[in-house]
Amino acid sequence: MPESLTVTDNRTGRSYDLPIENGAVRATSFEQMHLEDDDHGLLVYDPAFLNTASCTSRITYIDGDRGILRYRGYPIEQLAESSTFLETAYLLIHGDLPNGAEAAAWEHDITIHTLVHENVKSFMDGFHHDAHPMGMLLSTVGALATFYPGATQIYDEEQRRISIYRLIAKMPTLAAFAYRHSRGLPYNYPDNDLSYPGNFLGMLFKMVEPRYEVVPEIEKALDVLFILHADHEQNCSTNAMRVVGSSHPDPYSATAAAIAALYGPLHGGANEAVIHMVERIGSVERIPEFITGVKSGKERLMGFGHRVYKNYDPRAKVIKRMADQVLAVTGTTPLLDVARELEKIALEDEYFVSRKLYPNVDFYSGFIYQALGLPVEMFPVLFAIPRTAGWLSQWEESLLDKEQKIARPRQVYLGEAARDYEPMDSRQVQRPKVLAG
Ligand code: CMC
Repeated sequence: MPESLTVTDNRTGRSYDLPIENGAVRATSFEQMHLEDDDHGLLVYDPAFLNTASCTSRITYIDGDRGILRYRGYPIEQLAESSTFLETAYLLIHGDLPNGAEAAAWEHDITIHTLVHENVKSFMDGFHHDAHPMGMLLSTVGALATFYPGATQIYDEEQRRISIYRLIAKMPTLAAFAYRHSRGLPYNYPDNDLSYPGNFLGMLFKMVEPRYEVVPEIEKALDVLFILHADHEQNCSTNAMRVVGSSHPDPYSATAAAIAALYGPLHGGANEAVIHMVERIGSVERIPEFITGVKSGKERLMGFGHRVYKNYDPRAKVIKRMADQVLAVTGTTPLLDVARELEKIALEDEYFVSRKLYPNVDFYSGFIYQALGLPVEMFPVLFAIPRTAGWLSQWEESLLDKEQKIARPRQVYLGEAARDYEPMDSRQVQRPKVLAG
């Protein structure tokens, strides 16, 4: 079977054979289809990249129709069951699971970089008391670049390594500082005797006790949540990381851009939106009225639907089970019953079934974060911490990919044709009557 596509341009009657590689046709192969000798050639129009691969990647595999997610070939369910976040981060960045010595060295290299420069505390202090922690995180991650000028040497492997250690190590510290600032509490320094999630919990919640006692079930739950959020191939924030990284800034600046993309309610902000939505619904009796509103287009059922998954998000399955385990330790909330019933009703409703809308990773994660005692504003921050490992692996892959260049999409221009500048007195401007007054 020939691996090519034959296309006839009916404007000119000319036919073209376009090679198919790895199930894809290069968009640039359409450039040869000219109408006039001097035009640019045919463009491929794809707003929001619905069917455009912007890169090749060997990191994460998703089959959205079958609900499959794998990191470097390993099923997410197995990693959630048996791995740790730090080991998973190593896997994402290096491509294979570490042996004992590699794991110990990796853990050591991350752990020794958990402190931040004392001046970072002054930045944090400059924020208003009710500043959103995600805003604080994205600004301070961007600011880290100014402390490590060597990080701009992105083609120096040593510099890339140390930036990767620093970013993975410092995210929990900055996230915890943002939380403590918003509560008016003193910052806790990292405790390097604790695990990655245990240390984060300590920096969040330690009060005056000499040593923070980690609850093992909570530590494990947080570690699993971190594994599930560590990467998700070319999502909005990862695309931001690659696009910004393509102009070759330091990785702190590119990570700040990725955090900004994750901030939005359609991406990492969705778990916060789920809690607000369920609180607004309030009780199981009010679900039908809410569903009617969603179906009439008044609002969206947050935590449902996904650009890629047209089946149950495999991460949501693990999280749903974990929500039960965590709430058994922390005490349950009536909101979880509302969410479970909401899911049940939506999964049987023709509107959601016909559009293949299933719960995504954000539908239940917020309930776990809430049970841990975290305010909703911290939810996207908890997403950003583990996703940093994914962003960095994708950033490095992109930098080392010889086919990549500065990201610069084309456009289809639909605006005015050329026209001459007119002096103000002679301009005929059509204004609404009320403004023209
Ligand atoms: N509630 C109600 N209707 C929906 C929803 C929803 N959550 N999601 C999609 N639809 C409808 C949409 O109105 C459209 O209907 P129609 O064909 O009648 O116009 C159809 O389903 C297709 O939707 P779309 O907007 O074209 O889908 P998309 O791929 O552009 O959007 C999405 C994906 C995740 C932005 C969207 O499903 C959504 O807004 N979901 C709620 C927010 C959310 O939970 N986001 C977290 C995503 S997972 C974590 C992450 O990646 O950050």
